[in-house]
Amino acid sequence: MTGTVTQEELQAGRDYESLFVPALFSQWTGHLLQKSGVTAGSSVLDVACGSGVLARAALQKSGTSGRVVGVDPAPGMIAAAREVEPHIEWILGSAEDLPFADGSFDCVISQFGIMFFQDRLKALQEMFRVARAGGHLAIAIWHSIDQNPAYKDIVALLDQYVSSKAGDAVKIPFCLGHPEDVEGWLAQVGYENIAVETRTEQASFPNTRTMVEVELRGWLPLFDIHLTDEKIADILMKSDATLSKYASPTGEAVFPTSAYIITARKPD
Ligand SMILES: C[S@@+](CC[C@H](N)C(=O)[O-])C[C@H]1O[C@@H](n2cnc3c(N)ncnc32)[C@H](O)[C@@H]1O
Repeated sequence: MTGTVTQEELQAGRDYESLFVPALFSQWTGHLLQKSGVTAGSSVLDVACGSGVLARAALQKSGTSGRVVGVDPAPGMIAAAREVEPHIEWILGSAEDLPFADGSFDCVISQFGIMFFQDRLKALQEMFRVARAGGHLAIAIWHSIDQNPAYKDIVALLDQYVSSKAGDAVKIPFCLGHPEDVEGWLAQVGYENIAVETRTEQASFPNTRTMVEVELRGWLPLFDIHLTDEKIADILMKSDATLSKYASPTGEAVFPTSAYIITARKPD
């Protein structure tokens, strides 16, 4: 399944790949894969693959004798993923209704997607269904906003200068900050050997203003919050006071982000 993609959707996928992936997401793939059970020859499904950074890293591990598939409901993400790596199967679809037969994969992996799923339990049931008996699961999930202080600062900035609706929108990716909830769902679905590991990785944006600008221009419009260029320039100027502490001597914004990696196994 490929579907059609508009130029705007494709550009959004390309922007995600060129800006967000190196800033926030590529740092997590190596460790997640170490814990994922993926080895040479594995068949791997990356759920909520976005522009494909985790699936590409999985392909490096599974090699030519393996099979890697990425699934995501956003046509622009799938199109951007295909542009970067045409040798992976990129499929348009939702975690809640995975278009694969029972027991199709050795390993199911996912990073920083589950927070956005409409029905998380249904999605985990689907991830369980498409794994073979004895198959592995590895998922990365952000900790709470309190454990990600740079984003807490951005939320405070938006609460003050935009609206609480804008601040709330930036909190969404941090809404599953308590691993016990996810552990409970995994047990309910039937997984065993459930384990949680906390990890910190450094995020890195070109500068502190970009940290905020991507939220203002790329994230808030998804919640129907549209700001004028003038308003954006004003907020960016105001952001210097709180965010300058994240600026490195060479001007990049570098700050720690905290997430947990949860692993489990489908019983034999
Ligand atoms: C923050 S991005 C993470 C993408 C990628 N895993 C990465 O590490 O760059 C979240 C992704 O979740 C996807 N997503 C949202 N709802 C979904 C659903 N119901 N099923 C599968 N993916 C979904 C979005 O389209 C988006 O690509």
